[in-house]
Amino acid sequence: MKQERINYTQVVWTITRLLQDAESLEDALRTSLGEVVRAVGAEAGTIWFYNSNGDKRIYPSFWIGGADLTGLSLAAGEGIAGMVVQKGKTTVVKDCQKDERWAGRFDETTGFVTRSMVCVPLINKYEVIGCIQIINKKDGSLYNDDDVELCENLAMLTAIAIDDKGLNLGFVKEKKTILSLQNVTKTYGSGETAIKILKGVNLEVQEGEFLVILGESGCGKSTMLNIIGGMDQLTTGTFLFDGKDYSKADDKTLTMYRRNAVGFIFQAYNLMPTLTAKENLDFIGELCNDPMDAEQALERVGLLGRKDNYPAQMSGGQQQRVSIARALMKKPRIILADEPTAALDYETSIEVLTVLEEVIKRGTTLLMVTHNEEIAKMANRVIRMKGGVVSEIIVNRHPASAKELVW
Ligand SMILES: Nc1ncnc2c1ncn2[C@@H]1O[C@H](COP(=O)(O)OP(=O)(O)OP(=O)(O)O)[C@@H](O)[C@H]1O
Ligand SMILES: [Mg+2]
Repeated sequence: MKQERINYTQVVWTITRLLQDAESLEDALRTSLGEVVRAVGAEAGTIWFYNSNGDKRIYPSFWIGGADLTGLSLAAGEGIAGMVVQKGKTTVVKDCQKDERWAGRFDETTGFVTRSMVCVPLINKYEVIGCIQIINKKDGSLYNDDDVELCENLAMLTAIAIDDKGLNLGFVKEKKTILSLQNVTKTYGSGETAIKILKGVNLEVQEGEFLVILGESGCGKSTMLNIIGGMDQLTTGTFLFDGKDYSKADDKTLTMYRRNAVGFIFQAYNLMPTLTAKENLDFIGELCNDPMDAEQALERVGLLGRKDNYPAQMSGGQQQRVSIARALMKKPRIILADEPTAALDYETSIEVLTVLEEVIKRGTTLLMVTHNEEIAKMANRVIRMKGGVVSEIIVNRHPASAKELVW
């Protein structure tokens, strides 16, 4: 067998072990990428991940050599990496500078000159999750079949390792903090009768995140949600939304914030009984700057066919879905849901959660208070409150879908 082939087999062994035994998958991926770059005689390598649930762009998460790619991204279909992610097919390019698919602005931004490339899709069992790019073969030759096979092996091992171990993908870091609570306290009453409910809550929420908030009755969950929703004011501490400080905002400012940025869903649906589903939404639409079309909102929750029904003509789950549509009317940046399924049986709860799942997929941030631990499996992060503070935060690397929940 050719020496090169034997060397490549050794590299595959090395990276298999590295990725299998990794304590830190991030480190193992970086090292494995480095092994492959070195073995094929390339200058640089990059692993890109596809933000398929978010903005549909690809983000460089690990790179070795070459340019500093911090802060850069490509749309799916843009550039060679974007195209490989879109088509799911390995692509070899001899001279990028002469290839019209190459996103030239990358070199302009970084000062690096990209010449040759092999780019292989990163595919898990179901879909393309990114790609691996090996750049500039030092001897100027075209990448050969053995090089490509090695890169494809790396891609497969990487996808398996991510599936096994989970990985906090790079683009999560690109996300932006939408709101933060810093050392927030809330005291009701004053003097001898004063009771301190929140005793220094710290929380950062990323745009597009689904957070579930758990904690025993009376620990301050609704109080925190009311502060975030601009319905109540904190006593001390800082509350920022989209970088703006609302800690000491007056009623008028809070009303505008609440009206335009926040959607609310409660345990009680609070629909007006004398108005149809569509009229309930139109009523709210009148109050917003730039409302969604009521029929579109009903379609999002699967109830367009019920637009002329009155609340009493709908089931609890359907009424709750209308109240979700009502929250969507203002195209909110964030939705606050306080025990939205508490009054519903199992099947209607799943129906409502499935609708909320779609809302999150479209990029809306969702904070949900619940007593149902099973629902926490759907969240990106689970916040547990105790004694007026956030006592625990758990990151879910693989959030479940609503249909997988059982109780
Ligand atoms: N406006 C108020 N004035 C005085 N006390 C209040 C007020 N609002 C809430 N509280 C008290 O603050 C405490 C926390 O209430 P909160 O509604 O935030 O709890 P929770 O965690 O949402 O509980 P649950 O799970 O039962 O809904 C409770 O003891 C409640 O009685
Ligand atoms: Mg509550």
